Amino acid sequence: MTLPFQSLEKIPRHVAIIMDGNGRWAQERGLARIEGHKEGAQSVRAVLRAAKQAGIEYLTVYAFSTENWKRPKLEVDGLMKLLVSSLDAYEQELHDNQIRLRIMGQFERLPLPVRMRLQKTIDATADYADRTFIVALSYGSRTEIADAAKRIAEKVEAGELKAKDIDEQTVSDHLYLPDVPDPELMIRTSGELRLSNFLLWQLSYSEFHITDTYWPDFREEEFFHALEAYNSRDRRYGGVRK
Ligand code: FPP
Repeated sequence: MTLPFQSLEKIPRHVAIIMDGNGRWAQERGLARIEGHKEGAQSVRAVLRAAKQAGIEYLTVYAFSTENWKRPKLEVDGLMKLLVSSLDAYEQELHDNQIRLRIMGQFERLPLPVRMRLQKTIDATADYADRTFIVALSYGSRTEIADAAKRIAEKVEAGELKAKDIDEQTVSDHLYLPDVPDPELMIRTSGELRLSNFLLWQLSYSEFHITDTYWPDFREEEFFHALEAYNSRDRRYGGVRK
């Protein structure tokens, strides 16, 4: 699908998405929840294509939170399996479009076959520099910030850093992906008005776009509307309108 992305004045460098509503999408159709996740995986693919078309450099999707481990084993296993099969399906497209795959989260908590499959694509795409697809997996923002605090404290203890020199940049530098710029736009589907422990530090100044659409129904056109809405915002970072 070709959409008029070139008509937009501003294109964010980084868009982050909370993909919500897969379960409800499936329930409303009398289907198992995993069917909603499967259809959601198709939306990931559609949005990845649209983001490339729009010229977005970084796309981050929240695929599995630290809290999601509490879901029934059947659903967790199904999601892990889906992740692997989606990677098989996307891999060629990542190469064709020179998109680098990165993961943020507790990588070591993922099952070994999933880690191995992810690592293969992470390594194979590591040299692509212009576009990055980030999948947040077993991710929780409070854990990320606590881990950063721990590593900063260790450096202070080791005499590598002085407590008086710790500033915002020091914290940013110790998050999972310190080289990735903060998202200018965060999209959440299915109408929920919550951050759900997603990028709490990085989204401090981001614009939020919340849509009632369930994630499996969120495709290229919806993504374009989100970018249009972003274009109509006036970002001031706490300053005044010029
Ligand atoms: C939230 O919907 C969605 C998830 C927890 C999983 C998202 C995962 C995918 C779309 C799978 C594919 C991902 C990639 C990166 C290939 P929910 O289950 O919380 O929905 P509900 O709130 O309606 O129950």
